[in-house]
Amino acid sequence: MDLFDELPIEETGLTAEQEIRALREELKEQNYKYYVLSAPTMSDREFDEKMHRLQELEAKHPELFDPDSPTQKVGSDLVESQKSKVESNEGFPRIRHRYPMLSLANTYSREEVEEWARKLPAGVEIVAELKYDGLSISLWYEHGQLTHAVTRGDGTEGDDVLPNIRTIAGIPQSLVESRKSRGPHKLAQWGVSKVESLISSDIPDRLELRGEVLLPWERFEALNKQREEQEEPLFANPRNAASGTLKLQDSKEVARRGLTCYLYYMLGEQLPGTTHYERLMQAKQWGFPVSEAIKVCHSVDEVMAFIAYWDTERKNLPVATDGIVLKVNSLAEQEELGYTAKSPRWAIAYKFAAERQLTTLKQITYQVGRTGVVTPVANLEPIQLSGTMVQRATLHNEDFIRQLGIAEGDKVYVEKGGEIIPKIVGKVESQESKVESQYAFPTVCPECGTKLVRVEGEAAWRCPNEVSCPPQLKGRLEHFVSRKAMNIEGLGSETIALLYDKGLLHSIADIYDLRADDLAAQERLGEKSAQNLLQAVEGSKQVPWSRVLFALGIRMVGETTAKKIAKRFTSIDALQWASKEQLMAIDDVGEQIAENIVAYFADMRNLEIITRLQAAGVQLAANSDQQSAVSLPQVLEGKTIVISGTFTEHSREEYKQMIEDYGGKNSGSVSKKTDFILAGENMGPSKLEKAQSLGVKLVNEQEFLAMIHV
Ligand code: IVH
Repeated sequence: MDLFDELPIEETGLTAEQEIRALREELKEQNYKYYVLSAPTMSDREFDEKMHRLQELEAKHPELFDPDSPTQKVGSDLVESQKSKVESNEGFPRIRHRYPMLSLANTYSREEVEEWARKLPAGVEIVAELKYDGLSISLWYEHGQLTHAVTRGDGTEGDDVLPNIRTIAGIPQSLVESRKSRGPHKLAQWGVSKVESLISSDIPDRLELRGEVLLPWERFEALNKQREEQEEPLFANPRNAASGTLKLQDSKEVARRGLTCYLYYMLGEQLPGTTHYERLMQAKQWGFPVSEAIKVCHSVDEVMAFIAYWDTERKNLPVATDGIVLKVNSLAEQEELGYTAKSPRWAIAYKFAAERQLTTLKQITYQVGRTGVVTPVANLEPIQLSGTMVQRATLHNEDFIRQLGIAEGDKVYVEKGGEIIPKIVGKVESQESKVESQYAFPTVCPECGTKLVRVEGEAAWRCPNEVSCPPQLKGRLEHFVSRKAMNIEGLGSETIALLYDKGLLHSIADIYDLRADDLAAQERLGEKSAQNLLQAVEGSKQVPWSRVLFALGIRMVGETTAKKIAKRFTSIDALQWASKEQLMAIDDVGEQIAENIVAYFADMRNLEIITRLQAAGVQLAANSDQQSAVSLPQVLEGKTIVISGTFTEHSREEYKQMIEDYGGKNSGSVSKKTDFILAGENMGPSKLEKAQSLGVKLVNEQEFLAMIHV
């Protein structure tokens, strides 16, 4: 049975017109959350169901046609001006696609796939490919050089995220080079001059390759782990992580995250080949990353076998896939079949159903984290899902629970799809649950009884009792000893809990007062492990200042930010007198972080801890090697600088680094706060226009180098 059938169809009690309007609103909102914020609040499945419902209603009511309906448009990842809060997506040049970037008709039903295939002219070949679950990108090559990399945007215009795309290892920057760089073996075989003549003759002057940018599972998990440690919101799945990454202004960070890419479509004029498959193989020959999992099928049975095989085999792939794409192979036949407003008629996507189960929500409990955030957790009647037993699922926050309208005792649907973390996606409507839910979030901390506070604009409730709320104290200890912080092995969460309960550990400074006999007296800690632990504590006194700063656990000061702060303020003595403005002059330090730092040092209890750490010999200042690295004159201190265009003397990344090294702050977008623009050749037109309208000064490469006396 198709999973759709299991879902209760809600009786809306609305007229068709009202329902159409409501669906259009809801889907537009979801499109924005999905494409722009990279943080959808609806499962793909639910989105597709609502889209199908809207299509169905619009087909029945042609008089209500609206060209602005989400059924007529592909989702947009562009940031409209009123939404420019989304900081990370600002500052990329907007470019008009040469060919519209469409989406695909999709279905979850194999019967519908069969139906689509059977309607095609007899004997057509169908190319079956994996449907990669990332975000689409269009790569433009001019005379063999990569010149633009444009996101889908609204299908008509997209953002040129070229600097970020350049960080992806498999994407050739230059087709000539990529051909040459195939290694000495091939070179020797062909001879360099032959390679070049091949290139110039068979690569069209203008070439466009489309594909999917992805963050591999492994990278995604590592990124989320890091974000958890740094108290940043987690990405729900690799697709959101990839899309969030591609919108970053800092290409170095993009490079660190390790995106990857598969290309599946070639466009342009005077292209080789008469079939889609031939073009993909040609692309592969030119050095593009093209998947191995492609098959030319000659019958519906072959298509079905491909689907069945990959439905299980995809679980072993390093990247996320969410279905199969089927395309008519012959380009002439594709042309004949043509397009709808939104998608080609010659292709269809079959989407794999996320595994979904029905179970009972037994109880909602609450977890208090290191920073006091109270997270509701669903305790479920255990259920088998995608091979694992699921009994808990996060409910994120109060709003999430209210949106789902769930309460203890409800029958709920649990899903595990692109998300690794199981998620509650809905509930079975019953008579009782139609009555307004009586759910209420706790008003006091479940651990220490302190009245909870909700910071304006945040979804989370927080326990403000930093001083004595046990999970907050234990959490701070766990963070302090963690690998990327002080790296004190042998002090895991269980040992921390044990020593905390025994009254031996309350604050991070207590770690340096631990004695061998105190430890050895603990039943669960043998003499040997006590010794090892003390050795690790001793070793942590060599950890450099930047990591100690991270280890202190100042709210929102993650690993990278701590490094930048430690570079500017080379000792805690200097840092504790820093003003908010001085802190904000550091790249990456916004107002909130600066305020947190100032507040941290305004608290006597923290100062006492610092004094004790200092007495214990913890590195609270950079050693002389590190200091020499920062002895550059801070001539750009307090200056916010935007880089735009291309440069000849140094690379863009090098200029970014110079700005930081000389005390300045990089920013991706031009605003009133911009002190000047470091302007290269071909500066983005939108930046230029904005600079002119705000009267922001342009500084060329030479002028900039003179400024810093290089
Ligand atoms: S072909 C005109 N092939 O799925 C046809 N798309 O829901 C262009 N996708 O926007 C698309 N894997 O981002 C095609 N093998 C594949 C794909 C694929 C993933 C994505 C793509 C597209 C979306 C449609």
